[in-house]
Amino acid sequence: MDHPEWRPVFHLSPQRGWMNDPNGLCQYRGRYHAFYQYTRDWPGSDLRSWGHATSSDLLTWDDEGEALSPDTPEDRTGVYSGCAVIADGGRRMDLYYTGNVVLEGDYDQVRDGREANQILVTSEDGRSFSAKRVLLRPGDYPRDCTRHVRDPKVWEEDGELWMVLGARADDDRGEVLVYRSCDGIAWEHHRTIRSRKPLGYMWECPNIVMLDGKSYLAICPQGLENEKLRRHNRWQAGYLPLDGPIPATTLVDGEDFIEWDFGWDFYAPQIFSADDGRSLMIGWMGTFDEDRSSAPDGLSWCHCLTLPRELSRAADGRILQTPAREIEDLRGTPQELCENVRLPDHLADIAVDGIEGAGALILDGALSIELSDTLLTVSFADPAIGAGRTRRSVGLPRTTWMLRVIVDRSTVEIYLNGGETVFSTRWFPTAAQLSASSGIGCASSQIWPLIKRG
Ligand code: FRU
Repeated sequence: MDHPEWRPVFHLSPQRGWMNDPNGLCQYRGRYHAFYQYTRDWPGSDLRSWGHATSSDLLTWDDEGEALSPDTPEDRTGVYSGCAVIADGGRRMDLYYTGNVVLEGDYDQVRDGREANQILVTSEDGRSFSAKRVLLRPGDYPRDCTRHVRDPKVWEEDGELWMVLGARADDDRGEVLVYRSCDGIAWEHHRTIRSRKPLGYMWECPNIVMLDGKSYLAICPQGLENEKLRRHNRWQAGYLPLDGPIPATTLVDGEDFIEWDFGWDFYAPQIFSADDGRSLMIGWMGTFDEDRSSAPDGLSWCHCLTLPRELSRAADGRILQTPAREIEDLRGTPQELCENVRLPDHLADIAVDGIEGAGALILDGALSIELSDTLLTVSFADPAIGAGRTRRSVGLPRTTWMLRVIVDRSTVEIYLNGGETVFSTRWFPTAAQLSASSGIGCASSQIWPLIKRG
């Protein structure tokens, strides 16, 4: 089943098959490139390739087919996650990724039976890719590491190249390995970043973020305890403010870990710099959690990515996320949102400002977004529309004065207080039209239809 009414227009999704992490995000020769973890033969296979799409506006994506396939001994059981670096004065695109090798046999898959190779592929045009060159092999990691080492993120700083890798240490604690290189080919281990107290057993998909001269380390820890008002998903994605730059960092405070997004559908984000200087983040709008579906009713494609989000630093040091400003160019004629408003398609941008007191925004009579004091509660009245997503409450750092909601068919992204708290969810509406009503006391409340280009 294809269910075109669920196919997002502005969120990148696979034509068919499975999608997970965004990879190799970059702007190259003016055009945005998004690669992603892809399994065409899903369901039935979990062998990952890199899918590829390009865009001129971050919102409408052209499918470029499969860029990297698991076709060498070093990546034979998966072309796993990685990044892009634009090199040689903007002329070359360098892609770094993890070649995953799972050995057959009776192994525990943590301390044996698995190999991780860090591999480089280059491109002079963003469409054809060089032969693969293996840069780091199992013997090249620190001895106190398990076999779980992956997801290289590379950047240039002070004339050198730096790489962070997510890892699981022998004592079952998550950590980040920091490597350095002069040429992008020969890499040496520089140091390892750990948390003072344990923060999960494995850290996946590390990223570094620089905002207003301050550094942050973004990680996806596996193995944190679920809590009532946060950390609801099996694995989380978030960031840690650092005291200094990454090359000088060894210890971080796990207590400072802040989740990017509290929704049912968010993991493994990647951050990149656009040519105009913006730090943009795109996440996987999905998880591996099994209690909810992203492909109900035999859907032939599974998952999508989030909207690109602009990152900025708030006065208190938290990172704010706002939907890429390009989305505002797609707004049609606004309507005031108070009574029941209907739009012809599930494509909408909603902004409620000057909020006072409690209240709820209800979509299709099925999805409730409720604000009360320092709590956000998102719930589905109709469990079929939530496909396993039912009800979740999130603790907020302060009361809400501003709410923004973007609906793109089967996706809903909720931004509170200029992106201080974000909540992403999939839903699978059955009504032909979108209906919205708001009972939130506020100074202004507007809904724009989003207009599909072309
Ligand atoms: C995160 C992740 C990465 C890995 C990739 C495999 O979702 O587990 O660590 O590289 O997915 O698809």
